[in-house]
Amino acid sequence: MFSVALDGPAGAGKSTIAKEIAKKFQIIHVDTGAMYRAIALYFIKHNIDTKDINSIVPKLDSIKISINFTEQGQRIYINNEDITDDIRTAEVSMGASNVSAIPEVRAFLLDTQRDLAKHNSVIMDGRDIGTVILPDATVKIFLTAKAEVRATRRLKEYQEKDENVSFEEVLRDVIKRDENDSSRATAPLKQADDAFLVDTSDMDFNQSVEYISNIIKERTQK
Ligand code: DC
Repeated sequence: MFSVALDGPAGAGKSTIAKEIAKKFQIIHVDTGAMYRAIALYFIKHNIDTKDINSIVPKLDSIKISINFTEQGQRIYINNEDITDDIRTAEVSMGASNVSAIPEVRAFLLDTQRDLAKHNSVIMDGRDIGTVILPDATVKIFLTAKAEVRATRRLKEYQEKDENVSFEEVLRDVIKRDENDSSRATAPLKQADDAFLVDTSDMDFNQSVEYISNIIKERTQK
């Protein structure tokens, strides 16, 4: 068994690349951002501000998050309701960044994430996988790209879902989330000392997959 920790800022392409790599190496792709997104959606739906720590923490116990891995990728459920298709909006993105700064929320998800890597070969994407969740991961990658490039990719995703946002808004969001995620006290977004830095600003999707696959092959002899 082996594990790949894939960290990096918003819009670096972690999820799409991880999905392809999981297929190639026949391992499971765990998208940890989806777990923070699910929690954010739960509180948004309950009209609770995603920064309101005092209201959020006592309610964590009433949330059950479950995950199901299918051929098409990870499905995520909150209290048995499949919310996978509802978590990719701009509002949920910012909400996820907010709830992820709450230490109790991170602690709430930690065991679930570690357990998944204990029982399966995984590529796990997030912000703190190489630094906190899987410090002994077989391979660690820190995936990044220029903010403008990341915003362009995110805008395309939103447009495909008919979400009406401008490039400027998406860029502002990406930069704000980077700041949020990098400056929080608990498990901030940070490259692990032993992670490979991969900048995909000038790479297309296939080149990025190829590049990362080669690093994994070298490390795992697969
Ligand atoms: O990867 P993503 O854009 O789906 O993540 C949404 C937010 O969740 C992100 O802004 C920060 C947070 N997050 C985190 O703090 N730690 C992780 N391991 C994954 C995501």
